[in-house]
Amino acid sequence: MAMIEVRGLTKAFGELAVLKGVDLTLERGSVLVIIGPSGSGKSTLLRCLNVLETPCSGTIAIGEANMAFTSGVKVKQADMLALRRQSGMVFQAYHLFPHLTALQNVMEGQVTTLRRSKEEAKERALTLLAKVGLGGKADAYPHQLSGGQQQRVGIARAMSIDPQLLLFDEPTSALDPELVREVLKVIRELAKEGRTMMIVTHEMKFAREVADRIILIDEGVIVEEGRPEQLFGSPKQERTKQFLSKIMEVY
Ligand SMILES: Nc1ncnc2c1ncn2[C@@H]1O[C@H](COP(=O)(O)OP(=O)(O)OP(=O)(O)O)[C@@H](O)[C@H]1O
Ligand SMILES: [Mg+2]
Repeated sequence: MAMIEVRGLTKAFGELAVLKGVDLTLERGSVLVIIGPSGSGKSTLLRCLNVLETPCSGTIAIGEANMAFTSGVKVKQADMLALRRQSGMVFQAYHLFPHLTALQNVMEGQVTTLRRSKEEAKERALTLLAKVGLGGKADAYPHQLSGGQQQRVGIARAMSIDPQLLLFDEPTSALDPELVREVLKVIRELAKEGRTMMIVTHEMKFAREVADRIILIDEGVIVEEGRPEQLFGSPKQERTKQFLSKIMEVY
């Protein structure tokens, strides 16, 4: 069975329809990269999957959890938390707690969400920090870390609740070029380990290398979907061709 099934997902902010019926299937252990113009709904899609936004309609199933959304019908808090727990989100701007150390940032969700003991959470956090190459930085505060290091703490934090799915929203776009590489390296290793991931990125070379499949979103719909070599090499849709030619000029 697929690990993730999304059907007919819509999201509007007031009058503004942002997602207009998104269908997605993702197998366990595969990596989906999402590309598309600014404002097309990429972040909104990830935020809906993590239930940071409540979709207007559609269904989302991740692992064992699933929810159906209907306009005007209030969602159950317990369902929402169960679904949210299935995915770990890595944000463009890190979103670390500034008053907590790297270690405490990675412990926090485990203690509050999973009710793990402090000792257990600490042990898991230290393992994860070592995994992202920050074994020596456990006691550093975010302001004492480089952007790349903060983002690697963000990745460790996303993994700390042992989610089925990792969501990355432009994880390197706030970073100086020399720091991008260290973050991509960590994500690449996670892909090799068979983690199920959805990644929004403008790093096309990285996308090509890490993705099993790529989707292009434009104006809240999936315009095209394919294997990287197909989507980059011989795009079928005019909108995909236009987007790729634009982005290749920039990068
Ligand atoms: N909380 C919100 N309230 C109102 N409008 C929103 C909200 N969040 C997003 N939008 C709007 O929804 C649309 C899609 O935004 P979204 O952030 O999903 O785009 P994106 O594809 O991630 O763009 P980018 O590449 O610039 O990050 C935009 O028009 C945006 O202004
Ligand atoms: Mg975005």
